[in-house]
Amino acid sequence: MDVGLILSVLWLLPQVQSGVLRDVMDYQEELCRTYTLQDLLHLDCSDRGLSDLPDNISSYDAKVVILSNNNFISFPRQLEQFSQIQTLDMSGNRLSTPLPAYIENFQSLAILNLSNNNYDAWRKSESTVHFKRLDLSRNKINRIDEDAFSLTPMLSSLDLSENRLNDLATTMFASAQHMDTLILSRNYFLTVPQFQSQSLRSLHLSNCQIAVLSANAASEMTSLVVLDLSINQIESIPDNFHSKTLQELDMSYNEVSSLSDRTFSSLPHLAVLDLRGNGFKEVWSTSYFASNPFLREVYVKGNRWSCEGFGVNLLLTYEFLTKDPPKVSDKASLICYTPSNVTQLTWQQAYIRTWHADGSTGSEYTFMAVMIGIIIGVLITSLVCRGLMVFNRPDPPRQTAETTVLNGPVTPIQDDQQVRVTLRNTSFREDLPPSYDEALLLPRLNSSFHSLPDFVDEEDTLRRSRRSRSIGDLTETRPRIGDRRLHEPERDKNIKRVQNIRVSKHC
Ligand SMILES: *[C@@H]1O[C@H](CO)[C@@H](O)[C@H](O)[C@H]1NC(C)=O
Ligand SMILES: *[C@@H]1O[C@H](CO)[C@@H](O)[C@H](O)[C@H]1NC(C)=O
Ligand SMILES: *[C@@H]1O[C@H](CO)[C@@H](O)[C@H](O)[C@H]1NC(C)=O
Repeated sequence: MDVGLILSVLWLLPQVQSGVLRDVMDYQEELCRTYTLQDLLHLDCSDRGLSDLPDNISSYDAKVVILSNNNFISFPRQLEQFSQIQTLDMSGNRLSTPLPAYIENFQSLAILNLSNNNYDAWRKSESTVHFKRLDLSRNKINRIDEDAFSLTPMLSSLDLSENRLNDLATTMFASAQHMDTLILSRNYFLTVPQFQSQSLRSLHLSNCQIAVLSANAASEMTSLVVLDLSINQIESIPDNFHSKTLQELDMSYNEVSSLSDRTFSSLPHLAVLDLRGNGFKEVWSTSYFASNPFLREVYVKGNRWSCEGFGVNLLLTYEFLTKDPPKVSDKASLICYTPSNVTQLTWQQAYIRTWHADGSTGSEYTFMAVMIGIIIGVLITSLVCRGLMVFNRPDPPRQTAETTVLNGPVTPIQDDQQVRVTLRNTSFREDLPPSYDEALLLPRLNSSFHSLPDFVDEEDTLRRSRRSRSIGDLTETRPRIGDRRLHEPERDKNIKRVQNIRVSKHC
């Protein structure tokens, strides 16, 4: 008996079993197809019941080799000759053997697909391999060596979904510098593995049996952006669950029933939050999101909101979630479930129906009414203040008061701010003297000018620079020191006026 005969019998057996009886020649001809797709030469031998590759394959320069859905129990030796291979798809076979040694020569290998095979463990490769994506989903893996990925320096995406994992060493990816996406969904994890990784950005743990989320779960993954914990049994998100980088948190289809001000307070970059299908009843408060300025998408469908109480919170949270910018795009998800008289109404409608039974008023009107009330209040207050001011003022000739202010900067008890404000009200620009016509229109300032205190003359230089721009120069070319000293009573009056002005400022 020669080996070739045994092999060919073994090779034909599945075909006979599956009832496909064909001529051997015909079979060989259509065994593997070659074609070019997206500029890449493909060799496609999928769905052929193969357990070995034919010897006379012509296209060893294929970049994509598809051997999926066959009966391979090990990596065929001819594979070694595909030196330019970029993608090797061996999904849907019966592989359980370690990676062959020759794989280390595949310098361009980027994707290795071993999905749906017979692996029950994954071990460190014997030599360095360069692939970027490894698909090990749908195997029976329950053990992965701690150093399994220590010789895969380029690995960036690893799919381990639908296996039998319940624990993984947290240091497993510490040396995989490019690790970016890790899919662990559909396994048996009970908690979130606290991997140490500076590169991991996306971690998927959907549909495990996770019941507890610890506040530190993401703290060692210093680049984590996406965390998918959907379809688990988590009952609460711990206070201070923290990550400086996390942007997308998927907690949909868990058993979370309440949030607090501290739930998301340590997730400063949170942008997308999925809380569909949880146990929320009580309408949230907007303060829960006070620390999340980048929040832009929130999913809340499938919760049974109770609008009991009909507080203004219903309205505020509704507006927060649906306006500027809208975070919940599906407004139908913000619908009251209880009490029965508002079932199927939105939170907004429930609030309005309860407090404005005619139903015609919207929240905009409420807001406007409040604003108008505030404005009227402010007006009344200022009117009362003015009234008091006028009442307190013993001698209020208007022109004199104005003059006092105009000469303000040199009055010792006056304060700078007030003077500047008043000067800005005059009709000409500060830096230029008024034109002749303007000057004619200006009030005459004699009386008050004489009432300026002595102080001015003591600071002579200062006075000159300021007075050179002041209105006083137009009516009086020189200050008369002697005159002012003779007008003590007038000066006292001035001080009183200033005090009156201060009263008005406090109002
Ligand atoms: C491969 O071998 C089969 C028969 O063994 C033959 O029919 C087929 O033409 C060969 N293909 C090439 C490309 O030589
Ligand atoms: C691997 O193959 C499976 C089944 O053929 C497919 O669904 C999956 O997308 C492939 N994975 C990659 C990374 O291409
Ligand atoms: C619905 O019933 C609650 C009491 O359960 C009541 O306070 C509320 O005013 C009712 N709302 C409407 C719109 O009838």
